[in-house]
Amino acid sequence: MEDLKGLILSGGAGTRLRPITHTSAKQLVPVANKPVLFYGIEALVEAGVTEIGIVIAPLTGDEIREAVGDGSRFGASITYIEQSEPLGLAHAVLTAEDFLAGSSFVMYLGDNLLRNGISGLVETFRKDSPDALILLTEVDDPSSYGVAELDGGRVVNLVEKPDDPPSNMALVGVYLFSPAIIEAARRLKPSWRNELEITEAIQTLITDGRDVHSEVVKGWWKDTGQLADMLEANRLVLEEIETSIDGYMEDSKVEGRVILEEGAVLRGSVVRGPAVIASGAVIENAYIGPYTSIGRDVCVRRSEVEHSILLAGATVEDLGTRMEASLLGRDVRVTRTDGPPRTLRLLVGDRSEIEIV
Ligand code: TTP
Repeated sequence: MEDLKGLILSGGAGTRLRPITHTSAKQLVPVANKPVLFYGIEALVEAGVTEIGIVIAPLTGDEIREAVGDGSRFGASITYIEQSEPLGLAHAVLTAEDFLAGSSFVMYLGDNLLRNGISGLVETFRKDSPDALILLTEVDDPSSYGVAELDGGRVVNLVEKPDDPPSNMALVGVYLFSPAIIEAARRLKPSWRNELEITEAIQTLITDGRDVHSEVVKGWWKDTGQLADMLEANRLVLEEIETSIDGYMEDSKVEGRVILEEGAVLRGSVVRGPAVIASGAVIENAYIGPYTSIGRDVCVRRSEVEHSILLAGATVEDLGTRMEASLLGRDVRVTRTDGPPRTLRLLVGDRSEIEIV
């Protein structure tokens, strides 16, 4: 099975991460200062899958093309496939039919992160050649996921976001398919949410008596489709970084594992890792706490920030209270001015969320 292709789904509406997704693709939100999508591309390449199609949405597609390019720097060859509307994961597969050209393929959701990569999974698929190999993990709230009913290792039934889940084994966003999935997807009707559901396509394979195998994921898995999970993914990735201090430090202290990139500046500040601070960032008279990713050219002055992701160009000044569990978009400014009256003055885009605690 030499011609196993990769298909990364990087379109979608991203409603749960608005307003970030009004202007940008959620798959490009950086986790430990690297876009989520890059982890997926790297996982495929590491597993020997280098011919990769990326499904993009009309609005955010160009930004993804620009960030990823032709794939050469990942050791991959990338083809972009525009999906005109986010009509479901199985619809994305059908949109990619020409690219797939009858090959078996790994489908990888572009906002997912898997601690241990997919090399083992790809190897198992190559060895056993089933029609589908799906990845499962135990979750606390199965009714938010696609859920598998198992008989031993065999998948006997799949349901999308069930009210009454048959198990707590949820589908993880990585799937391996033979071309049989295309035929199954073609026979689908839109679900209640008007999507062609990949779970239903796999269910069709099961009903047709095809081989659908499953494996339980080893190591952690995160779907970064909403804020809490994005921050948790950031925490998990930062948990494994090694210290490297290449930036400039003056009257500052760094504790724990911290990456301070060349061109970053720390003045009169304390950074308690794990944290990463990108090139061009200026941290002055500030505290950066654990699980924080500071993007390029960010400024933090006279403020405390932890367990947060600050995208490129964001500014936080004179907060007077610690900011935590936050995601600031590009060039966002959060500042405080001197003197009474102590009021809030906001200029905030559609669907932003501000919590004063
Ligand atoms: P989801 O997170 O399930 O869907 P979404 O991106 O539309 O987000 P939300 O539910 O918050 O509105 O999608 C998983 C991945 O698949 C994600 O990277 C986007 C991608 N995707 C497509 O490429 N095409 C699609 O039609 C859909 C539904 C998702």
